[in-house]
Amino acid sequence: MYIRIPKGWELPAGSITPEKHYWGRRELLLAAGFSGVLASAPRNERYKLDRSLTPEWAAKSYNNFYEYTIEKNRVKDLVGDFQPRPWTVEIKGEVAKPLKFSIEDLEAQMPIEERTYRHRCVEAWAMAVPWMGFPLAHLLKMAEPTSKARWVRFEGVSRPKEMPGVRYSGTYDWPYHEALRLDEAMNELAFLVTGLYGKPLPKQNGAPLRLVTPWKYGFKSIKLIAKIELVKDRPATFWNTAVPEEYGFYSNVNPKRPHPRWSQAVEQVLPNMDRVATLPYNGYGEFVAHMYKGNEI
Ligand code: MTE
Repeated sequence: MYIRIPKGWELPAGSITPEKHYWGRRELLLAAGFSGVLASAPRNERYKLDRSLTPEWAAKSYNNFYEYTIEKNRVKDLVGDFQPRPWTVEIKGEVAKPLKFSIEDLEAQMPIEERTYRHRCVEAWAMAVPWMGFPLAHLLKMAEPTSKARWVRFEGVSRPKEMPGVRYSGTYDWPYHEALRLDEAMNELAFLVTGLYGKPLPKQNGAPLRLVTPWKYGFKSIKLIAKIELVKDRPATFWNTAVPEEYGFYSNVNPKRPHPRWSQAVEQVLPNMDRVATLPYNGYGEFVAHMYKGNEI
C-alpha cells in the first residue's frame, strides 16, 4: 500500500449525480434482491460520532480493494463482473456447532441494526458511515467456540475472472485473509456488515459480507467474507505477510506510532480531506483499551 494525498476531490463531476435521479429507493432495493431487513434496522445510539457523516457518494467512490485495483477512485468502476450472490458463509474449526448460512438466511436470522462508526485507513484517510449489520459475537456464540479456540480467521474469495486485481497482481497471497484474537472478535464493536446507508452493501465496499473493527486500521476490516474459522494458533494475515515491517498483526489505531513511511498523528477526512488529529484506538478506547497491555503491534 502507499499513501497518496489527492489535491482536492478527484472524482469526475459526471459520476457524482445522485443515484436517486435514476432510481427510486424502493426500486433500487428490489433490483438488488433486497428483502427489506436492512431498511427497517434500528440505529444503535450507543455508538456516537464526533463528526458529521461522510456523504454516501464519497464512501462509495473512494475505496481500498486490491482484488480490483490499487486506484481508490476506480474500484467502483471495476466491480461490475463480480457476482455476490449466491453466497455461502461458513463458521468452522474449533466450534461445537459448525454453521453454514446463505447470505439471505444470515440477514434474516441475525439481529440487524445500524451503527455509525468512524473508519480510519492505515494510509491516513478517514470517513464516518452508517453500517448495517450485526455483532460478530452473536454469530460466534451460536457456533459455540471450544476451549481450544484462541483466534478467529476470516477468508475472502479469489475469482480472477471477476477481479482484475487478482488477475494481474500475482504476488499477493489471495484470497484476502485476516484474523482477530478471540476476545477482540467477541468485543461489542466487532461488527459484520451487510448494508451501508440503509441499502445493501455496495460491491465496492465489500458485498455481500464484510467485517468492521473501527478501533483498528481499515485493512483489518476484511471484505467479501466467505469463511470464518476458529483456530488454536495465530493465523497469518494478508498485509502482515506481504509487508511485515509496515503492517502489524494487531494494527490498533495509534497516533504515536508512525508508519515507517508517514506519520499517523493526523488523518484526512473524506471528501474534502480536512486534517483532523487521530485518536488512540480511533477514539474507541473506552470499549477496547482493556484488551491490550500496550505492546501489541
Ligand atoms: N478487504 C479485501 N478483501 N480486500 C482489500 O483490498 N482493503 C482494506 C479493507 N478490506 C481490502 C479489504 C483496506 S486497506 C481498507 S482501508 C478498507 O477495506 C476500505 O474499506 P472501504 O473501501 O469500504 O472504505
